[in-house]
Amino acid sequence: MTDSQDAAPLFQPVTIGRYSLPNRIAMAPLTRSRTDNATGVPTAMNAEYYAQRATAGLIVAEATQISPQGKGYAYTPGIHSAEQVAGWKLVTDAVHAKGGHICLQLWHVGRISHPDLQPGGALPVAPSAVKPEMKAFTVDGFKDIPAPRALDVSELPGIVEDYRRATRNALAAGFDMVEVHAANGYLIDQFLRDGTNKRTDAYGGSVENRARFLFEVLDAVVAEAGADRVGIRLSPLSPANDAQESDPVGTFSPVIRRLNGYGLAYLHMIEGVTRGPHPGFGGDLAELRGLYTGRYMANNVYDRAMAIEATANGHADMIAFGRPFIANPDLVERLRIDAPLAEPDQKTFYGGDRHGYTDYPTLKQSAG
Ligand SMILES: Cc1cc2nc3c(=O)[nH]c(=O)nc-3n(C[C@H](O)[C@H](O)[C@H](O)COP(=O)(O)O)c2cc1C
Repeated sequence: MTDSQDAAPLFQPVTIGRYSLPNRIAMAPLTRSRTDNATGVPTAMNAEYYAQRATAGLIVAEATQISPQGKGYAYTPGIHSAEQVAGWKLVTDAVHAKGGHICLQLWHVGRISHPDLQPGGALPVAPSAVKPEMKAFTVDGFKDIPAPRALDVSELPGIVEDYRRATRNALAAGFDMVEVHAANGYLIDQFLRDGTNKRTDAYGGSVENRARFLFEVLDAVVAEAGADRVGIRLSPLSPANDAQESDPVGTFSPVIRRLNGYGLAYLHMIEGVTRGPHPGFGGDLAELRGLYTGRYMANNVYDRAMAIEATANGHADMIAFGRPFIANPDLVERLRIDAPLAEPDQKTFYGGDRHGYTDYPTLKQSAG
């Protein structure tokens, strides 16, 4: 470590929305499927996991369903019941006790689900009845996802209200902020993209129509929390979860331009294909990123050198790390002193107990 690296903006404070954060390293949202499947209530083990990672400038907690219908994976948490709010309070209290900040990612999976995960064994819902070529993670293992049921226009205000209630619940549970999950081919992204949205009503066709649902959700969330406590996550260049789009720049440019008017806490962008190689800082990414005037959080396969560079040259205000935070609870300290990073075990990413979850040691603990 040199003095100049320690002074790098990555390790310096930043203002995000109404908060002053101690560094520019965020923990990216990571589904770990470690809550009770029937109730979706977070536990003391989840609180311990997040508290271990509280030196992140900001933790974006795992995607959390806004309603029973919004669920698409076994053992994921919710934010629609009083018990879930109480469970999340354990998490936010534990993170705040360590001086951290924590944001909740609000999730409706749309078609990326299975009747086993839906209330009453119903079909998952989506803008249009387009079947994803994907499998769902259920309690009985992976199962083929069927074609979803297309939502009737009369159902959409109810889903927007679910986002509003989830925001209110997240604030009651002690979260500092919420992040609208509009990435990775889930419901909002399904509305945005021409491969998954074949509607002929006011929510389909033109880019403005396909973005209507996103902005109705955002208006509701912002009305509850205030724009300075709301972030949004997009993945314009990622076909994650079989979300096809014939013209990503054409579709996402007007969306990003319109987001400028909201004064949000941040725009969180997955750069390139989620978990794929970084696309480089030119081309479509440069075009899309250049449109945004507010705080920008970059993510996807960043390493230490890229993160230092991107926060020094004006590309990003924060860098979100996903997989590195799984195996390195003290990631901020390791990056600061340029220590080696532990590798996460993919077999324990989803489901299971504390093994591969709360038992990754810090550098200090490994040194005994
Ligand atoms: C185990 C796992 C779970 C994930 N869960 C979520 C999630 O809940 N919400 C989300 O937006 N992205 C999720 N992602 C994507 C990550 O947030 C991140 O975009 C991706 O891992 C790339 O960043 P990285 O290279 O730093 O890991 C997940 C990724 C992994 C590996």
